[in-house]
Amino acid sequence: MRAVRYYGQKDIRVEEIEAPTAGPGEVLIDIAWCGICGTDLHEYLEGPIFIPAKGHPHPVTGEEMPITLGHEFSGVVSALGEGVDDLEVGQHVVVEPYVLPEDVDPKQPGPYNLHPDVNFIGLAGHGGGLAEQISVQRRWVHPISNDVPLDEAALIEPLSVTHHAFVASEAKEGDVALIGGAGPIGVLTAAVAKAYGLTVVVSELSELRRQKALDAGVADYAIDPSATDLKEEILKITDGKGADVAFECTSVNVVLDQLIDCLKLKGTLVVESIWSKKAELDIHALVMKELTIRGIIGYAHDHPKTIELVESGKVDLKPFITGKIGFDGVVDEGFDTLINRNETAVKILVSPEL
Ligand SMILES: NC(=O)c1ccc[n+]([C@@H]2O[C@H](COP(=O)([O-])OP(=O)(O)OC[C@H]3O[C@@H](n4cnc5c(N)ncnc54)[C@H](O)[C@@H]3O)[C@@H](O)[C@H]2O)c1
Ligand SMILES: [Zn+2]
Repeated sequence: MRAVRYYGQKDIRVEEIEAPTAGPGEVLIDIAWCGICGTDLHEYLEGPIFIPAKGHPHPVTGEEMPITLGHEFSGVVSALGEGVDDLEVGQHVVVEPYVLPEDVDPKQPGPYNLHPDVNFIGLAGHGGGLAEQISVQRRWVHPISNDVPLDEAALIEPLSVTHHAFVASEAKEGDVALIGGAGPIGVLTAAVAKAYGLTVVVSELSELRRQKALDAGVADYAIDPSATDLKEEILKITDGKGADVAFECTSVNVVLDQLIDCLKLKGTLVVESIWSKKAELDIHALVMKELTIRGIIGYAHDHPKTIELVESGKVDLKPFITGKIGFDGVVDEGFDTLINRNETAVKILVSPEL
Protein backbone atom coordinates (compact mmCIF):
# COMPACT_ATOMS: atom_id res chain seq x y z
CA MET A 1 0.00 0.00 0.00
CA ARG A 2 1.04 3.65 -0.31
CA ALA A 3 2.01 5.66 2.75
CA VAL A 4 3.47 9.09 3.56
CA ARG A 5 6.62 8.52 5.61
CA TYR A 6 8.81 10.82 7.70
CA TYR A 7 12.56 10.43 7.11
CA GLY A 8 13.66 13.60 8.90
CA GLN A 9 13.46 17.38 8.60
CA LYS A 10 12.04 18.36 5.21
CA ASP A 11 12.30 14.76 4.06
CA ILE A 12 8.85 13.25 3.52
CA ARG A 13 8.44 10.41 1.04
CA VAL A 14 5.44 8.68 -0.49
CA GLU A 15 6.38 5.00 -0.49
CA GLU A 16 5.04 1.56 -1.16
CA ILE A 17 5.07 -0.40 2.12
CA GLU A 18 3.59 -3.68 3.28
CA ALA A 19 -0.13 -3.44 4.09
CA PRO A 20 -1.09 -4.21 7.71
CA THR A 21 -3.36 -7.09 8.76
CA ALA A 22 -5.75 -7.27 11.73
CA GLY A 23 -3.84 -9.07 14.49
CA PRO A 24 -5.59 -10.40 17.61
CA GLY A 25 -7.60 -7.62 19.27
CA GLU A 26 -7.05 -5.29 16.31
CA VAL A 27 -9.28 -3.56 13.78
CA LEU A 28 -8.17 -3.13 10.18
CA ILE A 29 -9.36 0.21 8.80
CA ASP A 30 -9.50 1.48 5.22
CA ILE A 31 -8.52 5.10 5.77
CA ALA A 32 -10.88 7.66 4.24
CA TRP A 33 -9.46 11.06 5.27
CA CYS A 34 -6.57 12.31 7.39
CA GLY A 35 -6.01 15.90 8.52
CA ILE A 36 -2.66 17.69 8.57
CA CYS A 37 -1.90 19.20 11.97
CA GLY A 38 0.49 21.83 13.34
CA THR A 39 2.35 18.98 15.06
CA ASP A 40 3.14 17.44 11.65
CA LEU A 41 4.51 20.81 10.51
CA HIS A 42 6.75 21.06 13.60
CA GLU A 43 8.14 17.59 12.83
CA TYR A 44 8.71 18.62 9.21
CA LEU A 45 10.46 21.91 10.06
CA GLU A 46 12.21 21.18 13.37
CA GLY A 47 11.80 17.45 14.10
CA PRO A 48 12.09 14.78 15.10
CA ILE A 49 10.26 15.88 18.27
CA PHE A 50 7.55 13.29 19.06
CA ILE A 51 8.90 11.01 16.34
CA PRO A 52 11.53 8.58 17.72
CA ALA A 53 14.91 9.49 16.21
CA LYS A 54 17.25 6.89 14.73
CA GLY A 55 18.70 4.78 17.54
CA HIS A 56 15.94 5.79 20.00
CA PRO A 57 13.02 3.42 19.38
CA HIS A 58 9.78 4.24 21.21
CA PRO A 59 9.43 2.00 24.31
CA VAL A 60 5.93 0.86 23.34
CA THR A 61 6.11 0.51 19.54
CA GLY A 62 9.81 -0.38 19.28
CA GLU A 63 9.80 1.76 16.13
CA GLU A 64 12.00 4.64 15.03
CA MET A 65 11.99 6.82 11.92
CA PRO A 66 11.07 6.42 9.13
CA ILE A 67 7.48 6.30 10.37
CA THR A 68 4.12 6.80 8.67
CA LEU A 69 2.59 10.21 9.49
CA GLY A 70 -1.01 11.20 10.28
CA HIS A 71 -3.01 11.11 13.52
CA GLU A 72 -6.31 12.84 12.62
CA PHE A 73 -8.18 10.26 10.58
CA SER A 74 -11.43 8.52 9.81
CA GLY A 75 -12.17 5.33 7.93
CA VAL A 76 -14.22 2.20 7.40
CA VAL A 77 -13.66 -1.14 9.14
CA SER A 78 -12.40 -3.66 6.60
CA ALA A 79 -11.50 -6.64 8.84
CA LEU A 80 -11.66 -7.64 12.50
CA GLY A 81 -8.88 -9.44 14.34
CA GLU A 82 -9.42 -12.43 16.62
CA GLY A 83 -11.46 -11.51 19.70
CA VAL A 84 -13.04 -8.35 18.29
CA ASP A 85 -16.77 -9.03 18.13
CA ASP A 86 -18.41 -5.67 18.86
CA LEU A 87 -17.74 -3.96 15.51
CA GLU A 88 -18.73 -4.82 11.97
CA VAL A 89 -17.04 -4.64 8.61
CA GLY A 90 -18.35 -1.48 6.90
CA GLN A 91 -18.74 0.45 10.17
CA HIS A 92 -17.46 4.05 10.07
CA VAL A 93 -14.87 4.73 12.75
CA VAL A 94 -12.44 7.30 14.09
CA VAL A 95 -9.32 6.56 16.09
CA GLU A 96 -8.15 8.06 19.36
CA PRO A 97 -4.56 7.87 18.23
CA TYR A 98 -2.69 6.98 21.40
CA VAL A 99 0.39 4.86 21.70
CA LEU A 100 0.31 3.57 25.31
CA PRO A 101 1.34 0.36 27.08
CA GLU A 102 -0.98 -2.68 26.83
CA ASP A 103 -2.18 -2.34 30.43
CA VAL A 104 -3.64 1.15 29.91
CA ASP A 105 -7.41 0.77 29.63
CA PRO A 106 -9.14 3.96 28.43
CA LYS A 107 -12.47 2.63 29.80
CA GLN A 108 -11.07 2.97 33.33
CA PRO A 109 -11.00 6.37 35.01
CA GLY A 110 -7.70 8.20 35.14
CA PRO A 111 -5.66 10.64 33.08
CA TYR A 112 -4.12 8.20 30.60
CA ASN A 113 -3.13 11.19 28.44
CA LEU A 114 -0.52 12.01 31.10
CA HIS A 115 1.23 8.59 31.07
CA PRO A 116 5.04 9.06 31.00
CA ASP A 117 5.42 6.99 27.79
CA VAL A 118 2.47 8.58 25.99
CA ASN A 119 2.86 9.18 22.27
CA PHE A 120 0.70 9.07 19.17
CA ILE A 121 -0.10 6.82 16.25
CA GLY A 122 1.25 8.65 13.20
CA LEU A 123 4.21 9.98 15.20
CA ALA A 124 5.63 7.13 17.30
CA GLY A 125 4.69 4.19 15.08
CA HIS A 126 1.78 1.66 14.96
CA GLY A 127 1.04 3.03 11.48
CA GLY A 128 -0.42 6.38 10.55
CA GLY A 129 -3.42 8.01 8.94
CA LEU A 130 -1.49 9.06 5.82
CA ALA A 131 -1.68 5.56 4.38
CA GLU A 132 -4.26 3.41 2.64
CA GLN A 133 -4.87 1.21 5.67
CA ILE A 134 -4.04 0.94 9.36
CA SER A 135 -4.51 -1.74 11.98
CA VAL A 136 -5.46 -0.31 15.39
CA GLN A 137 -6.00 -1.92 18.80
CA ARG A 138 -9.73 -2.12 19.55
CA ARG A 139 -9.44 0.08 22.66
CA TRP A 140 -8.58 3.13 20.53
CA VAL A 141 -11.26 2.64 17.84
CA HIS A 142 -14.51 4.63 18.23
CA PRO A 143 -17.48 3.75 16.03
CA ILE A 144 -19.40 6.71 14.63
CA SER A 145 -22.74 6.89 12.88
CA ASN A 146 -22.45 6.04 9.18
CA ASP A 147 -24.48 9.25 8.67
CA VAL A 148 -21.50 11.43 9.66
CA PRO A 149 -19.56 12.21 6.47
CA LEU A 150 -16.09 10.69 6.73
CA ASP A 151 -14.35 13.92 5.75
CA GLU A 152 -15.95 15.74 8.67
CA ALA A 153 -15.19 12.80 10.96
CA ALA A 154 -11.45 13.33 10.41
CA LEU A 155 -11.80 16.52 12.48
CA ILE A 156 -13.10 14.66 15.54
CA GLU A 157 -9.52 14.19 16.81
CA PRO A 158 -8.67 17.91 17.10
CA LEU A 159 -12.25 18.59 18.26
CA SER A 160 -11.61 16.15 21.15
CA VAL A 161 -8.65 18.29 22.25
CA THR A 162 -10.92 21.31 22.46
CA HIS A 163 -13.64 19.29 24.20
CA HIS A 164 -11.02 18.32 26.80
CA ALA A 165 -10.19 22.01 27.23
CA PHE A 166 -13.86 22.91 27.55
CA VAL A 167 -14.38 20.31 30.28
CA ALA A 168 -11.31 21.65 32.10
CA SER A 169 -12.81 25.17 32.07
CA GLU A 170 -15.91 23.96 33.98
CA ALA A 171 -17.89 26.49 31.93
CA LYS A 172 -21.67 26.24 31.80
CA GLU A 173 -24.52 27.31 29.54
CA GLY A 174 -24.96 31.09 29.51
CA ASP A 175 -21.31 31.83 30.34
CA VAL A 176 -19.19 34.11 28.18
CA ALA A 177 -16.05 32.52 26.74
CA LEU A 178 -13.16 34.56 25.37
CA ILE A 179 -10.90 32.67 22.99
CA GLY A 180 -7.44 34.00 22.12
CA GLY A 181 -6.56 32.93 18.57
CA ALA A 182 -8.86 31.55 15.86
CA GLY A 183 -6.58 29.00 14.24
CA PRO A 184 -7.84 25.40 14.00
CA ILE A 185 -7.68 24.91 17.78
CA GLY A 186 -9.30 28.27 18.55
CA VAL A 187 -12.25 27.81 16.17
CA LEU A 188 -12.85 24.23 17.29
CA THR A 189 -12.82 25.44 20.91
CA ALA A 190 -15.37 28.06 19.85
CA ALA A 191 -17.48 25.32 18.22
CA VAL A 192 -17.61 23.27 21.44
CA ALA A 193 -18.34 26.32 23.60
CA LYS A 194 -21.15 27.38 21.25
CA ALA A 195 -22.59 23.86 21.25
CA TYR A 196 -22.78 23.99 25.05
CA GLY A 197 -24.71 27.28 24.94
CA LEU A 198 -22.01 29.84 25.71
CA THR A 199 -21.63 33.30 24.22
CA VAL A 200 -18.35 33.14 22.33
CA VAL A 201 -15.94 36.01 21.76
CA VAL A 202 -12.90 35.38 19.60
CA SER A 203 -9.82 37.62 19.61
CA GLU A 204 -7.81 37.17 16.41
CA LEU A 205 -5.42 39.35 14.38
CA SER A 206 -6.22 37.81 10.98
CA GLU A 207 -9.28 39.23 9.27
CA LEU A 208 -9.78 36.02 7.26
CA ARG A 209 -9.80 33.94 10.43
CA ARG A 210 -12.16 36.32 12.25
CA GLN A 211 -14.53 36.14 9.30
CA LYS A 212 -14.28 32.33 9.23
CA ALA A 213 -15.26 32.09 12.90
CA LEU A 214 -18.29 34.35 12.29
CA ASP A 215 -19.33 32.64 9.02
CA ALA A 216 -19.12 29.20 10.61
CA GLY A 217 -21.46 30.44 13.33
CA VAL A 218 -19.12 29.50 16.19
CA ALA A 219 -18.37 33.08 17.35
CA ASP A 220 -20.87 35.73 18.42
CA TYR A 221 -18.15 38.40 18.33
CA ALA A 222 -14.80 38.37 16.52
CA ILE A 223 -12.51 41.17 17.69
CA ASP A 224 -9.26 42.49 16.23
CA PRO A 225 -7.20 43.24 19.37
CA SER A 226 -4.79 45.44 17.39
CA ALA A 227 -7.59 47.82 16.38
CA THR A 228 -10.02 47.61 19.30
CA ASP A 229 -9.58 47.70 23.07
CA LEU A 230 -10.35 44.06 23.85
CA LYS A 231 -11.02 44.61 27.54
CA GLU A 232 -13.42 47.47 26.84
CA GLU A 233 -15.36 45.25 24.41
CA ILE A 234 -15.48 42.34 26.86
CA LEU A 235 -16.73 44.61 29.63
CA LYS A 236 -19.44 45.90 27.29
CA ILE A 237 -20.52 42.36 26.36
CA THR A 238 -20.53 41.16 30.00
CA ASP A 239 -22.10 44.24 31.64
CA GLY A 240 -18.83 45.16 33.27
CA LYS A 241 -18.15 41.74 34.79
CA GLY A 242 -15.49 40.21 32.52
CA ALA A 243 -15.38 36.85 30.73
CA ASP A 244 -16.29 33.76 32.76
CA VAL A 245 -13.71 31.59 31.01
CA ALA A 246 -10.87 32.14 28.56
CA PHE A 247 -8.98 29.78 26.26
CA GLU A 248 -5.45 30.54 25.13
CA CYS A 249 -4.79 29.11 21.64
CA THR A 250 -1.84 31.16 20.32
CA SER A 251 1.28 30.63 22.52
CA VAL A 252 1.72 34.41 22.38
CA ASN A 253 2.53 36.12 25.71
CA VAL A 254 0.53 39.25 24.91
CA VAL A 255 -2.55 37.10 24.47
CA LEU A 256 -1.99 35.40 27.81
CA ASP A 257 -1.84 38.85 29.45
CA GLN A 258 -4.96 40.06 27.65
CA LEU A 259 -6.99 37.00 28.60
CA ILE A 260 -6.01 37.32 32.26
CA ASP A 261 -6.96 40.98 32.12
CA CYS A 262 -10.37 40.25 30.56
CA LEU A 263 -11.40 37.48 32.97
CA LYS A 264 -13.98 38.10 35.69
CA LEU A 265 -13.15 37.65 39.39
CA LYS A 266 -12.65 33.92 40.04
CA GLY A 267 -12.59 33.28 36.28
CA THR A 268 -10.76 30.36 34.67
CA LEU A 269 -8.11 30.42 31.96
CA VAL A 270 -7.35 27.21 30.05
CA VAL A 271 -4.04 27.14 28.17
CA GLU A 272 -4.30 24.90 25.11
CA SER A 273 -1.27 26.04 23.13
CA ILE A 274 2.16 24.43 23.32
CA TRP A 275 4.87 26.73 24.67
CA SER A 276 8.44 26.19 23.57
CA LYS A 277 9.65 29.06 25.77
CA LYS A 278 8.84 30.28 29.28
CA ALA A 279 5.97 32.74 29.53
CA GLU A 280 5.65 35.75 31.78
CA LEU A 281 2.57 35.69 33.90
CA ASP A 282 0.88 38.45 35.93
CA ILE A 283 0.83 36.55 39.22
CA HIS A 284 -0.44 39.63 41.03
CA ALA A 285 -3.58 39.62 38.86
CA LEU A 286 -3.97 35.88 39.44
CA VAL A 287 -3.93 36.42 43.21
CA MET A 288 -6.00 39.60 43.36
CA LYS A 289 -8.75 38.18 41.11
CA GLU A 290 -8.53 34.63 42.55
CA LEU A 291 -8.19 33.22 39.03
CA THR A 292 -7.70 29.58 38.07
CA ILE A 293 -5.22 28.73 35.32
CA ARG A 294 -5.16 25.23 33.87
CA GLY A 295 -3.23 23.54 31.08
CA ILE A 296 -4.50 20.69 28.93
CA ILE A 297 -2.83 18.14 26.68
CA GLY A 298 -4.55 15.78 24.28
CA TYR A 299 -7.73 14.12 25.52
CA ALA A 300 -8.86 11.38 27.86
CA HIS A 301 -12.41 9.98 27.90
CA ASP A 302 -13.44 12.83 25.54
CA HIS A 303 -14.14 10.95 22.30
CA PRO A 304 -17.64 9.61 23.12
CA LYS A 305 -19.00 13.06 24.07
CA THR A 306 -17.18 14.72 21.16
CA ILE A 307 -18.64 12.21 18.72
CA GLU A 308 -22.11 12.88 20.18
CA LEU A 309 -21.69 16.62 19.51
CA VAL A 310 -20.99 15.85 15.85
CA GLU A 311 -23.63 13.13 15.42
CA SER A 312 -26.33 15.34 16.95
CA GLY A 313 -25.43 18.23 14.62
CA LYS A 314 -24.57 20.51 17.57
CA VAL A 315 -21.14 20.90 16.01
CA ASP A 316 -20.91 21.24 12.23
CA LEU A 317 -17.36 20.52 11.10
CA LYS A 318 -17.94 21.14 7.38
CA PRO A 319 -16.95 24.85 7.42
CA PHE A 320 -13.51 23.96 8.76
CA ILE A 321 -12.49 21.75 5.84
CA THR A 322 -10.64 24.17 3.57
CA GLY A 323 -8.71 21.83 1.28
CA LYS A 324 -8.61 18.27 -0.03
CA ILE A 325 -5.48 16.71 -1.52
CA GLY A 326 -3.81 13.36 -2.26
CA PHE A 327 -0.59 11.86 -0.85
CA ASP A 328 1.57 13.48 -3.53
CA GLY A 329 0.32 16.94 -2.51
CA VAL A 330 1.09 16.63 1.22
CA VAL A 331 4.30 18.67 1.11
CA ASP A 332 3.85 20.95 -1.93
CA GLU A 333 0.20 21.83 -1.33
CA GLY A 334 -0.59 20.86 2.27
CA PHE A 335 2.49 21.77 4.31
CA ASP A 336 3.33 24.69 2.04
CA THR A 337 -0.11 26.28 2.51
CA LEU A 338 -0.08 25.74 6.27
CA ILE A 339 3.46 27.13 6.64
CA ASN A 340 3.27 30.09 4.24
CA ARG A 341 -0.42 31.04 3.96
CA ASN A 342 -1.96 29.54 7.06
CA GLU A 343 -4.69 32.15 7.48
CA THR A 344 -6.26 30.88 4.24
CA ALA A 345 -6.71 27.40 5.72
CA VAL A 346 -8.25 25.68 8.71
CA LYS A 347 -8.03 21.93 8.03
CA ILE A 348 -6.51 20.40 4.91
CA LEU A 349 -7.56 16.77 4.46
CA VAL A 350 -5.66 14.03 2.64
CA SER A 351 -7.25 11.03 0.94
CA PRO A 352 -5.52 7.90 -0.40
CA GLU A 353 -7.96 8.08 -3.32
CA LEU A 354 -7.05 11.55 -4.63
N1 LIG B 1 -2.85 20.96 24.09
C1 LIG B 1 -3.01 20.13 23.05
O1 LIG B 1 -3.26 18.94 23.22
C2 LIG B 1 -2.87 20.66 21.66
C3 LIG B 1 -3.32 19.92 20.56
C4 LIG B 1 -3.21 20.48 19.28
C5 LIG B 1 -2.64 21.73 19.13
N2 LIG B 1 -2.20 22.40 20.23
C6 LIG B 1 -1.59 23.74 20.17
O2 LIG B 1 -2.61 24.72 20.05
C7 LIG B 1 -2.01 25.92 19.53
C8 LIG B 1 -2.90 26.48 18.44
O3 LIG B 1 -2.90 25.61 17.34
P1 LIG B 1 -3.44 26.10 15.93
O4 LIG B 1 -3.23 25.01 14.98
O5 LIG B 1 -4.79 26.69 16.08
O6 LIG B 1 -2.36 27.28 15.65
P2 LIG B 1 -2.34 28.51 14.63
O7 LIG B 1 -0.95 29.03 14.65
O8 LIG B 1 -2.95 28.11 13.31
O9 LIG B 1 -3.32 29.58 15.30
C9 LIG B 1 -2.92 30.58 16.17
C10 LIG B 1 -3.74 31.83 15.88
O10 LIG B 1 -3.42 32.83 16.84
C11 LIG B 1 -3.51 34.08 16.18
N3 LIG B 1 -2.77 35.09 16.95
C12 LIG B 1 -1.42 35.30 17.02
N4 LIG B 1 -1.14 36.36 17.78
C13 LIG B 1 -2.32 36.86 18.20
C14 LIG B 1 -2.68 37.96 19.01
N5 LIG B 1 -1.74 38.78 19.53
N6 LIG B 1 -3.99 38.18 19.25
C15 LIG B 1 -4.94 37.36 18.71
N7 LIG B 1 -4.66 36.30 17.93
C16 LIG B 1 -3.36 36.06 17.68
C17 LIG B 1 -2.90 33.83 14.82
O11 LIG B 1 -3.31 34.83 13.89
C18 LIG B 1 -3.46 32.45 14.50
O12 LIG B 1 -4.66 32.51 13.75
C19 LIG B 1 -0.61 25.51 19.04
O13 LIG B 1 0.33 25.94 20.01
C20 LIG B 1 -0.68 24.00 19.00
O14 LIG B 1 0.58 23.41 19.15
C21 LIG B 1 -2.32 21.88 21.48
ZN1 LIG C 1 -2.96 16.97 15.68
